[in-house]
Amino acid sequence: MKDGAVFTTVESLQSRLKSSSSSTETALVPTMGALHDGHLDLVRKALEITDQVVVSIFVNPTQFNSKEDLENYPRTLENDLKLLESVGKVIVFAPTVEEMYPPDFEKIKIDLGDIANVMEGKFRPGHFEGVVNVVHRFFQIISPNYALFGEKDFQQLAVIQRMVEEMRLSVQIIPCQTIREVSGLARSSRNQRLTELQKEQALVIVETMNYANQNKGELTPIELKNLAIDYFNQGELELEYLDIVDAKTLQSLNEWNSDSRICIAAYCGEVRLIDNMEIN
Ligand code: PAF
Repeated sequence: MKDGAVFTTVESLQSRLKSSSSSTETALVPTMGALHDGHLDLVRKALEITDQVVVSIFVNPTQFNSKEDLENYPRTLENDLKLLESVGKVIVFAPTVEEMYPPDFEKIKIDLGDIANVMEGKFRPGHFEGVVNVVHRFFQIISPNYALFGEKDFQQLAVIQRMVEEMRLSVQIIPCQTIREVSGLARSSRNQRLTELQKEQALVIVETMNYANQNKGELTPIELKNLAIDYFNQGELELEYLDIVDAKTLQSLNEWNSDSRICIAAYCGEVRLIDNMEIN
């Protein structure tokens, strides 16, 4: 990455953005680093929309509800910069915790409603509060016209969309499909912590979601959910939750509707993985 393309302070980033013509639109790809093909796909999509793409790299401590998870989160800045360079010309914002959360930082007050109380919200208390606050702070600093998020974090996407609607923010949220390895495993920074054997074992997640799609038949969502749990439990992972939910409200489905999703969170050894898929 050429000198000057990585900004670590709000002031330097803002002065770089101000130097662009006023008609230039900005797209933001927020990341926590440890970049993989999923992130690079977001960056490529952002570059199709506009020339001015900001990629933030910041491991946000406030969204981790486990100290160990925060400490073990992979940090690979040098490699991230190389990968970004291979994709195109982007502006990298890699701030410190102090820069993101100065002493006068004020949390936003927002009622995220029921979408934030289930699944990730239930098992990771405080997680979404941390996510919306950091994303809102990025929006304040960068004032992007667009922000791109992967559907792998399906609930996060819904929560951010809700924040944008509730707070009437002018940014357009662009959801992007989950990128998978050839094996079907969803790309995730956390995959870096898996052994080859664990990567194979983790395939039970995508296999269960495919199994659910293939066996829907005349089953109710609850019957299908129970069948999928039985299938999942034949594998080696430890299930945290598996649910079939309304893709808009994220509440468990009792009856089928046109937009339903199977969502899974599970531990593969020490590593927590999540994934989701449409149910057709
Ligand atoms: O999805 C992530 O990597 C993070 O939750 C995000 C959106 C960058 C906020 O820290």
